[in-house]
Order: sequence, then structure tokens, then C-alpha cells
Amino acid sequence: MDKIFFLEKENLRQVAKTYGTPLYIYSEKIIQEKAKILSEMPAPYGLTVRYAAKALTTRAIIKIIDKLGLHFDASSAWEAKRLMDAGIAPDKILLTSQELSPFTKELIQAGIHFTAVSPRQLIFFGENFRGEKLSIRLNPGIGSGHVKRTNVAGTSSSFGFWYEKIPEINKLLEKYQLTVERIHIHIGSGSDPDVWKQVAAKALKLIECFPQARILNLGGGFKVARMPFEKDTDILALGKAVYFELEKFAAQTGRKLHLEIEPGTFLLAQAGLLLSQVNDKVDTGENGYTFLKLDSGMNDITRPTLYGVQHPLMIVSQEPERNEANTEKVIVVGHNCESSDILTPKPGNPEEADTVEIPETLIGDYIVVGAAGAYVSAMSFANYNSFPRTPEILIQENGEIRLIRKAESLEMMIQNEL
Ligand SMILES: Cc1ncc(COP(=O)(O)O)c(C=O)c1O
Repeated sequence: MDKIFFLEKENLRQVAKTYGTPLYIYSEKIIQEKAKILSEMPAPYGLTVRYAAKALTTRAIIKIIDKLGLHFDASSAWEAKRLMDAGIAPDKILLTSQELSPFTKELIQAGIHFTAVSPRQLIFFGENFRGEKLSIRLNPGIGSGHVKRTNVAGTSSSFGFWYEKIPEINKLLEKYQLTVERIHIHIGSGSDPDVWKQVAAKALKLIECFPQARILNLGGGFKVARMPFEKDTDILALGKAVYFELEKFAAQTGRKLHLEIEPGTFLLAQAGLLLSQVNDKVDTGENGYTFLKLDSGMNDITRPTLYGVQHPLMIVSQEPERNEANTEKVIVVGHNCESSDILTPKPGNPEEADTVEIPETLIGDYIVVGAAGAYVSAMSFANYNSFPRTPEILIQENGEIRLIRKAESLEMMIQNEL
């Protein structure tokens, strides 16, 4: 197979020579394809797709997504500022943040939309914006994530107002003469589509308590196939299920709700690769293991360490004519001085390493980490072990390659130290 994810092997060797490794590589075409699928999600009374910018916040990517007509979900005031700095109109940004920042007020004054996720945030909004409109995030009591740690609803989650607290919310709304225009519910990343649908139905019950709300934001969380045994969420099927619920709701209440979704993973995960080079190879004897050590690791990709999830790994031999028939079982590890820096953890158990069977690999060969577009560069442990931040390139729609984040130099790494 000469094609590795969205690039030919020869192209990968070329970019490695030109830009060095490690290197993040993104495909504009895939972002466009995924945005199209999401934008065609059926919704009887209108749809807004908000890109969850935390998945990958690099400026060039934000600009592509803006050009595609999507709106944005900002997970912190800093992220909202960064989006505005990239040229995103404040009116396209919805801020749903765990933290109230000293400059949240200024951002709302500039025109971003605000979601209150706690009594403190609601009181803050009331004190500063009496009589205005806002969104409320609810924890619907049921969550679902790809792994436990990406489940963000239910009793063990701090995200949003617990759904039984609606009477308390209403008291504060009345006190400050506020109007809820949007109910926001996000239950996790990599959610089970059946749970997502169940929550959508529950969300419609909850929104009945906010008679002025006209927008239902059901968050993101759409599962994608990172590993070959995984399956992408059928966005069309999910949309159809919610479509009928929204129609039923309109018939019963006369309220035609505008639907919002907030995908990060679905839009970006498969649009990114992390290209690294095998820097060393060691083994622990006859009864032990063979280890491939990369020139990348948990400082570039934290998901395996954090969640115990694997990403697909593909080998590109340094020399084109290598025979790939022979395979070997290896544990793939990163270059950090940290035993948890493993790219092949036991699924669901970041504590333990697993072996993977791959074509025989030599020092100097390349390993391509697939599905590395979402929560990889953006969620990297920048500068741990003093490794510089990894550069990023974009394969543009016309096939041209553009550097979108320069490699970090030692000077850049230490520039704020006194
Ligand atoms: C509020 C909110 N919306 C949307 C998302 C996007 O989720 P995903 O990337 O799984 O689509 C997240 C991520 O966890 C989130 O916290």
C-alpha cells in the first residue's frame, strides 16, 4: 500500500526531508469533506455547526473553518480571544467555559455569546448584563464518552448545572430579568450515538422549562473511526432521529427550535497526522519485548498516556524499496524520560503497554500516527523534557504544502524566563 492515510509514502519521505520530524500534517480537503457531512445534518428549523476550537486552534485551521461558514465554540476566554485575533467575528463565537476569566465581561461586551455553566457564572452575567440574553449549560444526568475520562455528564461530572436545579436557575433569571435563548448540553467526546439520541430527547423535555429558548445546542462528541475496528458516527441517521423529535416538539409546543452541534473530533481527527522517525530500537531479551523509540512522544500526543487509547500507526521505510513482508511485535514508545510515554498502551489502560504487529522497522524509518488532527497538537504537553513545540504543515486544497506553525527554537522556548 503506497497511500498512508491521505498521503503517498513518497510525499511523506519528502516532507520529512524538507521540514524534519516530528511534524504535524493536516489535510484541508478532509476538513472540507467532514464540514460538508456535518452541515448536511437534517434539522427542520435550521442548523448551526460550531467547531469546538479546542480540538485544534492553530490559526490557519481556524481560518479554513471560518471560510467553510462554520461558527465556533470557545472553551475558555483565552480561546475566544485567540479566535477573534484570527479574524473570527465575535457574533460567531459561543463561550462555554469552566472558568470565569477577568476578561469575560469585555468579550461579552465585544459581542460573543455567553453560556453560564454554574450559579456563580449566572450571577456574574446578571450583575453585569441585566435584562440580556444568554445560554445555560445543563448536565442532563446521563453522559457518554469514548473512555470514562471523556464522559462529561452524570453525577460525577462538574460540567453545567445539574438538571434538577432548574428552579434555582429560574430564580436567578427572574432576579436579573435575563432571557435564556439557548440550552446547551454536551455529554462527552466519542459518545455512543444511542445515548446521544436519548439525551437529545431528554434535552427537549428540559428546554420546555425555558419557554423563551429558541436554540438547542446538543454539543459534539460524535465518535469517529480512529482505529480500523472503530466506526464513524452516521451523522445523517443521528440527524434524522433528532429531526423527528424537533418536529414533534414544535407540534406540541409551537416552538420551532434551531439546532446547534459542536463537533471537534468529527471535523478534525482524521484530517491530521503526526509524522515521526524511529530514533532507536532496544529489547529486553528473550522473554521481554522489542521497543521502537520515536523522536516524538507524549509531549506531542498525550491521548495514549492520558486515556489509554491507541492511534493507528503506519510504517514508511526510509528507503523506498524495502520488503515489508516480514513483521515484528513491538511496543512503540516516545522520547520522553517517562515510563508512561507509550504510544501502544493496553486499550483502556494507560498503565500498561501492549505490543503491535508491524512490518520490520529499522532506526531511521518513519512512523505515521493517524487520526492525529483533534486533541493532539492542541493538547500537547508543550516543552516537557524541553522538547520544542512541533511544527505544523497544511496540505492545501490545491495540493500545495504550507507551513502553518514554525518549529520552536530554544530562544522561543525560554523567551519569557527571567
Ligand atoms: C462544550 C463542548 N462542546 C463540544 C466539544 C467537542 O467534542 P468532540 O470533539 O468530541 O466533538 C467539547 C469537547 O469535549 C466540549 O467540551
